[in-house]
Amino acid sequence: MTEDGTPGGALPEGALTQEVPTSTGERLLPPVPGATRELLGEPAPPPLHPPVQGMAVVVGSRPVSAYVELTLEAPDIADTAQPGQFVAFAVGGPTSAMLLRRSIAIAGVGEGRFSVVVSARAAGSTWLASLRPGEEVDVVGPLGRPFPLPPEGTPALLVGGGYGAAALVGLGGLLRSRGHEVAAVVGAGDEARLCSVDDLAAVAAPFVVTTDDGSSGRRGRVTGPVAELVAGAGVVYACGPMPMLRAVADLATARRVPSWVAVEESMACGIGVCMTCVLPVVSADGRTRFSRSCVEGPVFAGDRVRFDDVGTLPADVVGADAMGPAHTPAVEGETP
Ligand SMILES: Cc1cc2nc3c(=O)[nH]c(=O)nc-3n(C[C@H](O)[C@H](O)[C@H](O)COP(=O)(O)OP(=O)(O)OC[C@H]3O[C@@H](n4cnc5c(N)ncnc54)[C@H](O)[C@@H]3O)c2cc1C
Ligand code: FES
Repeated sequence: MTEDGTPGGALPEGALTQEVPTSTGERLLPPVPGATRELLGEPAPPPLHPPVQGMAVVVGSRPVSAYVELTLEAPDIADTAQPGQFVAFAVGGPTSAMLLRRSIAIAGVGEGRFSVVVSARAAGSTWLASLRPGEEVDVVGPLGRPFPLPPEGTPALLVGGGYGAAALVGLGGLLRSRGHEVAAVVGAGDEARLCSVDDLAAVAAPFVVTTDDGSSGRRGRVTGPVAELVAGAGVVYACGPMPMLRAVADLATARRVPSWVAVEESMACGIGVCMTCVLPVVSADGRTRFSRSCVEGPVFAGDRVRFDDVGTLPADVVGADAMGPAHTPAVEGETP
């Protein structure tokens, strides 16, 4: 841990070793039968402040490429939020049948206000994106665990996909203010779906844009420039679609660089009660548990997430025997 309670970057050699039946490193690291693999990242620590619920006033709404950026007045949330956290909006108004809140990453904070970038897709996000200045919305936040900050002097590489890049803007500014070198790669399917390009370009060098169709920046996926830049990074932060997070985490892990990924699992309650948002993550003791993205995440150490097994019930997950018929003992000698 560093002085401010944040975990450090790479752990000392051999500090944490165990057999990890994950695929994240196995595709890039040569498999060594019976060998142990050192985990590079600690579980993300909890946030400094508890969430609050209240009405936030919309004070700004503007289109940003394919998205809408909303700015909301909510000092209790804005003044305590840390980069990587999110808020959960009640959608549809007081008589709406849409019972579930919609989780949206916090893109920026300042002067008692926070901003979010909304991609209008189905009913809930379309309602959110249609909010106008002066309107109020019920919101809970800040939620989830923030991005842990690296030890002093650690160069950081930020990787954002689609609107996921917005969640890295506050982190990039914070890292720069603490004297870190920051590089960034921002990618999307096409130019219209790029996000936060100017904000991240202002804090990062080198700064690379990619689009799948070549309509802006380099043609191709973020993984091309990430593979080039990761060797110069001491820590990698990523937010975007799950396949991108997995690829970025794999690249970092293969080069023994710790990574932090902010996942976007479907959430129902958003506060740790319903278990909707779980995914298999290797815990501090080396065993895999279903971790709730809303309270143990959304930020996880990239090499701890078992991306191959997301959406499944791996037999070695702690408690798997109580959840389904298939169970293989996770620990030698354990009785199923
Ligand atoms: C941590 C986090 C950060 C996010 N950040 C952003 C962001 O910055 N910008 C953005 O546009 N979107 C973001 N999202 C996605 C956002 O929460 C919505 O899912 C998305 O906007 C679609 O909402 P909708 O109402 O249009 O779609 P709908 O299909 O009407 O509703 C989707 C919602 O239904 C619920 N849901 C769907 N499937 C399931 C399921 N299988 N089990 C339980 N509940 C389910 C979830 O609450 C989900 O959010 C984020 C999600 C998470 C978890
Ligand atoms: S969304 Fe309910 S536990 Fe995470």
